[in-house]
Amino acid sequence: MTENKAVVKPWGGRFTEPTDVFVEAFTASVEFDQRMYKQDIKGSIAHAAMLYKVGVLSREECDEIASGLHEIELEIDSGKFEWSVALEDLHMNIEARLTQKIGDAGKKLHTGRSRNDQVATDMRLYLRDEIDEINVHLRRLQATLIDLAEREVDTVLPGFTHLQVAQPVSFGHHMLAWFESLERDAQRLADCRKRVNIMPLGAAALAGTTYPIDRHYTASLLGFECPAENSLDAVSDRDFVIEFCFAATLTMTHLSRFSEELVLWVSQQFDFIEMGDSFCTGSSIMPQKKNPDVPELIRGKSGRTNGNLVCMLTLMKSQPLAYNKDNQEDKEPLFDSVDTLKASLRVFADMMQTVKVKRENMRAATLKGFSTATDLADYLVKQGVPFRDAHEIVGKAVRYGIDNKKDLAEMSLAELKVFSDKIEDDIYKVLTPEGSSAARDHFGGTALNQVRQAIVRARDRILEVAE
Ligand code: ARG
Repeated sequence: MTENKAVVKPWGGRFTEPTDVFVEAFTASVEFDQRMYKQDIKGSIAHAAMLYKVGVLSREECDEIASGLHEIELEIDSGKFEWSVALEDLHMNIEARLTQKIGDAGKKLHTGRSRNDQVATDMRLYLRDEIDEINVHLRRLQATLIDLAEREVDTVLPGFTHLQVAQPVSFGHHMLAWFESLERDAQRLADCRKRVNIMPLGAAALAGTTYPIDRHYTASLLGFECPAENSLDAVSDRDFVIEFCFAATLTMTHLSRFSEELVLWVSQQFDFIEMGDSFCTGSSIMPQKKNPDVPELIRGKSGRTNGNLVCMLTLMKSQPLAYNKDNQEDKEPLFDSVDTLKASLRVFADMMQTVKVKRENMRAATLKGFSTATDLADYLVKQGVPFRDAHEIVGKAVRYGIDNKKDLAEMSLAELKVFSDKIEDDIYKVLTPEGSSAARDHFGGTALNQVRQAIVRARDRILEVAE
């Protein structure tokens, strides 16, 4: 990065004094907005093509601009481009280099355009590309969860409420629960993309331009759904960034919850799963340690994306129309949320592929904590006992179990009959974790055959949207 080199500012005409050196650095965005150079160049080429179409640029000028910009793209790709802080931002850096390369035609590129509509366009092109990439990572994680659900469909573990053992569930069912959260995340992203994919270009500074521009043509060249309806709104609102930051942080919230479970599950106390060594790290002092750093970090990183959302909301709050320099501050939170979400989804999918389920330990855990107590109550109800009475009877049986250190399934028929003479030998089928799970045999329930059907539907659902 070149600093403080005296350059002629593209907007310098009305100024008599140079910019304060510190102010120059303070107001510059080139250090971070350069990440959108491909989108900026693409937008400029489309703008020039449109200017040619409506007769503002000649064929030669348009061609020179396009080839000059292609060369600049290669310079940036290969790290040869010299960014200058004095040129403030990505847009003026590229324009200055273009003019240096092709002369007067370069100076014509900015006709009928402002950095205000240019930057809003770049942001939308950039975010559209990133949403598409994020979607691929999200889908891969969902597919990984479906595979795991299928492999472990008949593994039972305790389902928890209040982190207390509640009822046995299929591990496949548990994985598909997270699939559903991620499915809504994918839908939210797709919906957000619709509002991102609207073109600000042509709004110019705020009021539009005096040239006979064809915004529909530029929009079609750039793959936008349509040009923005209102020029003031087009350069001003960053609600599309806020929406994305919300979608990103909600996805991170889901990943943080899932991470929390993984951290618990690998602990010695649960010992439900093992995670690949390549996704864990050791301790510099305690030789026995294998720490679940990846899920812990993802849990922690959800704080960042929350922060970015609040940052964006606060940035937008009370801003009058139209463009204000405040909006330059939209980039770093957005970029950080994009990077955080993309990396987290990617590593999560890879990590889940290394998970080994300890079936015996999960099953053993369902035998503790009276996870089939509801099943005993339901059994009594089916024998004609009102549910509230059945609840009371089973509560007493559980109390007896706690005092005598016996699960319900470990009690003899004679012991169980003390609580209700309606209990017969067929109760033992009901009291196994598998029996309990199998009994929840309806749409959305944890019975094996339901989970198997849900797996098939989940696969179809992600294929459907991919088509
Ligand atoms: N770097 C600016 C931004 O990111 C570009 C737009 C500047 N426009 C202006 N009128 N100063 O928002």
